[in-house]
Amino acid sequence: MSDKKPVFKPNKEFAKNAAIKNMCEYHELQDKAMEDYEGYWGDAAKEKIDWIEPFTNVLDESKAPFVKWFDGGKLNVAQQCIDRHLDTRKNKAAIIFEGDRGDVQTITYLDLYKNVNRFANLLKEDFGVKKGDRVVIYMPMIPEAAYAMLACARIGAIHSIVFGGFSAEALRDRIDDAEAKVVITADGAFRKEKPYMLKPVVDAALEGKTPVKKVLVVERNHEDVEWVAGRDYSYNELIKDKSAVCEAEVMDAEDPLFLLYTSGSTGKPKGVQHNSAGYILWAQMTMEWVFDVKENDTYWCTADVGWITGHTYIVYGPLAMGATTVMFEGVITFPDAGRPWAMVENHRINQFYTAPTAIRVLHKMGEEEPAKYDMSSLKVLGTVGEPIDPPAWKWYYEEVGQNKCAIVDTYWQTETGGHIVSPLPGATPIKPACATLPLPGIMAEILDPATGERAEVGETGYMCVTRPWPSQIRGVWGDEERYVKSYFGDVKKDGKPVYFTGDGAVYDEDGYITITGRTDDVINVSGHRMGTAEVEAAIKKHANVAEVAVVGKPHPLKGEGIFAYIVLKADEGVADEVEEVKAINNIIKKEIGNIALCDDMIFAPGLPKTRSGKIMRRILRSIAKGEAITQDISTLEDPSVVAKIETMVKG
Ligand code: WT7
Repeated sequence: MSDKKPVFKPNKEFAKNAAIKNMCEYHELQDKAMEDYEGYWGDAAKEKIDWIEPFTNVLDESKAPFVKWFDGGKLNVAQQCIDRHLDTRKNKAAIIFEGDRGDVQTITYLDLYKNVNRFANLLKEDFGVKKGDRVVIYMPMIPEAAYAMLACARIGAIHSIVFGGFSAEALRDRIDDAEAKVVITADGAFRKEKPYMLKPVVDAALEGKTPVKKVLVVERNHEDVEWVAGRDYSYNELIKDKSAVCEAEVMDAEDPLFLLYTSGSTGKPKGVQHNSAGYILWAQMTMEWVFDVKENDTYWCTADVGWITGHTYIVYGPLAMGATTVMFEGVITFPDAGRPWAMVENHRINQFYTAPTAIRVLHKMGEEEPAKYDMSSLKVLGTVGEPIDPPAWKWYYEEVGQNKCAIVDTYWQTETGGHIVSPLPGATPIKPACATLPLPGIMAEILDPATGERAEVGETGYMCVTRPWPSQIRGVWGDEERYVKSYFGDVKKDGKPVYFTGDGAVYDEDGYITITGRTDDVINVSGHRMGTAEVEAAIKKHANVAEVAVVGKPHPLKGEGIFAYIVLKADEGVADEVEEVKAINNIIKKEIGNIALCDDMIFAPGLPKTRSGKIMRRILRSIAKGEAITQDISTLEDPSVVAKIETMVKG
């Protein structure tokens, strides 16, 4: 499977002052990291972080895979993101906010400092939040979401953001698992000029027994919401008399900064824990390297703060480096598919970062739209979340980037904290739809899972990282064993367990890495991870459902769609398919949220199982895709079921 993708040379004009200007510099850094790993990272940490107290040890692997970086060092991430810029950038825009209806607000670094400090004082004084407490943030894309994150960082509280599209049940699970004592939310926000609501979801999530004592409500759309006396408080009221000065908590390098729940192949979502120094170091370094943001640039990432991309590349990375980051409340196709390009023109955006699914939608709905706007400010275009398909890449490169921008296909995950494989815009010759090379210092390698050897060119192997790195996941909240089992159980190199991402990948003849997709039961829907087990658990809550198996199926816009095979209980039968589908979808909405709705549902007579009762998902995946079944089915408990399901799916 030799890969003959065309090669695009880096645009030397953009490369002139890039942090890493050419491949020689790239290799120098990579070689330095290989020769003296701790020296490499120690130097980076000394240079990039404003330490309150210096660290005494770079890396402690004695309890691997539990690792410690920069032991002895003390810092505060909010200071790293705000205070240290005040001397030189106090009047520079830190955040440019554009609301759904086009309202724009510019927040300077000095404004940010004051707003975050007031917020921090509110949490401390009115809510009694202390270092180490967990605070759940369930917010729309408004500046207060960033203030809330940084206010937690300032006082040492651990935030756990739950994406605003998750249901009350999903929110409740995450609140309970983190044992959060405070929830920060908003009444709602605006979506296509209409109010959409968040507070009622929080109310539902807190019904019954809950660890939450107080709820802070930012009034954004001023719709009527219910207030529980003694529990719910208005941010807009409480913030008025707060001091704009708040001393930052002195944090250890390894004090937790945040939790972010993400789906795995089994069980409930895991609380991925990131700690202070290592995370912020890599957020800042990758921000500088991969997006090549210059002092006067304006950078826009379209993600939501509810996902890791929003954490690292809307808030922490850009602010740590002192950049101007755009925050957008709205929907990128509203009022039409030219919205992002109008924003590029209006804000003179220099770096634009989005997901392939968004590119496909913008391409489909507005192929000619980019040509209507002045896109000349753009220099770097990023993609993240899923493999990008060549047609989407081509349109992005030619029409959006006008054949002159570097496209950085950034590969990473919630657990990696920041990019691990990505081109560098000034240096790396790029190939369409290819994440290219590991970033300097990241020992990312495709391994053959059977032998632990480096995979041969053209052979799909497992995407691994063979040494710990500063921004790696530090643990699964409350479950040490799950951390070890989930990430260090599958692949060994030289007899030692290494971090496995869960993705397959392949080298081409230049050593470039192309990600081929998940190797486990995780589906990538519009760049979001969805665990098949979670969707199955939701569907099983329907009283008529006896069995269910969920698989991914290629989807033209979403990347992957969700395909459910459902076996109803014998005496129920399929009375009214439309009604059953509706009822099941309602349960999914309630248990997880709209993002987990099924694209296809088949009421099957049975599921292909081995005699020991294991569901053969590979067969179900093939059927969903319309592929011929190549597996041996003769050993199944009931081989006839395969043909029956195939006929139903084709029908
Ligand atoms: C999974 C991580 C990373 C932030 C957004 C999603 C897939 C991510 C790429 C890419 C191919 C990619 C992987 C990964 N993925 N980036 N550039 N090319 N696949 O974060 O929810 O933690 O999902 O997204 O499958 O494991 P996440």
